[in-house]
Amino acid sequence: MQKIVIDGGARLGGQVRVAGAKNAALPLLLATLLGEGEHRIANVPDLVDVRTTCRLLERMGCGVEFARGRVKVEVNGLKCREAPYELVKTMRASVLCLGPLVGRFGQGRVSLPGGCAIGARPIDQHLKGLSKLGAKVVLEHGYVDVRARRLRGASIVLDMPTVTGTENLLMAAVLARGQTVIHNAAREPEVVQLAEVLNSMGARIAGAGSEEIVVRGVNELRPMDCRVIPDRIEAGTLLIAGAITSGDVLVRGARPEHLAALMEKLDEAGVAVGVASSGIRVKGPARPRAVDLSTQPHPGFPTDMQAQFMALMTLARGTAVVSERIFENRFMHVQELRRLGARIRLEGGRAVVTGVRALSGADVMATDLRASASLVLAGLVARGRTRVHRVYHLDRGYQRLDRKLRALGARIRRAPDRPPVAIR
Ligand code: EPU
Repeated sequence: MQKIVIDGGARLGGQVRVAGAKNAALPLLLATLLGEGEHRIANVPDLVDVRTTCRLLERMGCGVEFARGRVKVEVNGLKCREAPYELVKTMRASVLCLGPLVGRFGQGRVSLPGGCAIGARPIDQHLKGLSKLGAKVVLEHGYVDVRARRLRGASIVLDMPTVTGTENLLMAAVLARGQTVIHNAAREPEVVQLAEVLNSMGARIAGAGSEEIVVRGVNELRPMDCRVIPDRIEAGTLLIAGAITSGDVLVRGARPEHLAALMEKLDEAGVAVGVASSGIRVKGPARPRAVDLSTQPHPGFPTDMQAQFMALMTLARGTAVVSERIFENRFMHVQELRRLGARIRLEGGRAVVTGVRALSGADVMATDLRASASLVLAGLVARGRTRVHRVYHLDRGYQRLDRKLRALGARIRRAPDRPPVAIR
């Protein structure tokens, strides 16, 4: 176990490069199941979730090599078509193998993901869509078993624009017979990249990035050779690190078209945000202004940036209302931010944040990936020392965030952490 130790107060400055996007890399890795042969993916972030996905592919019988940000996946038949409990319990995104497995091999079996720290997170929309495509879905012994001889195109109306649901159904539909239309589809950049890569493999997908995606099924796909898009959430987190420390930071590789909602909120908060050819630059004010926000599906403000933006708002002049509309329980960071001296009141799905002049360092505990990031951000400005425990959450989604922040001037390091003593 490790913890992150931060001595707050350093103003960040300089340049940092954003890594490849976790949430784009995971579906791409699983999409390799759709084509026989050797697939190549570049700019893959070295994260625990990526390693878990590689292990899953290996268990299924694929050859996987991962070195210096490049993954090579050799698909040559499969020896198993299952994502077991041990892997799914550590990474919900394993469910993304269902679409490719049933689409190409006629059967897939995945341990049913449970609830998680941010909410119940069912997969009913994935399963509804697969049934619409003609698959038989059986739930037993904690597993979902999906079978079909060959899927048939269909019209699917999602109840909400689910990101992995849209990705799973896209991957199922590309090899189905006939045309599939996904209505109320997710529009996230990661969905768009998946569709583009599938098209480069020979799929026929139109409309990705809009609410209606049309897929015309083909008989087979070639291997992919692609490069993962920059991680907009890591980029956003680094931008807030610059803003919250009243610093001046250029995040190289950050794409403004993926970060428009965040950039607008930063601007409203008094942060100077500039677009350079190499990325996005922020200059933080002495003290930000309070701004309200409400999370929404893309292109709205991303739920994956809510905790980090709240960290910024804890120091704002005035009161900000932060509404979480995607996940019902994504306020686990609130209690920990309060330990650092933040004034936050929870009212149902809203957090009312009244800015304070300064936070003060404390021991805090990470509960999920983005909550951990918000605690690190708050620690950068808190007076004195902050220790963030349970750092493994952070490492699921950020590639060496502490090193990147240190390179920008933060006083931050990792240290071994003793497991908490059980209270009898
Ligand atoms: N939902 C259902 N039924 C479904 C699917 C979703 O009720 O069948 C609900 C969810 O419970 C949630 C809402 O719909 O309330 C939206 O969830 P969505 O399915 O879009 O989330 P996801 O696909 O499971 C991805 C990201 C998350 C990110 C969300 C929202 C990946 C691997 N994960 O999850 O990323 O928060 O979209 O943008 O792409 C993270 O990186 O920290 C993370 C949690």
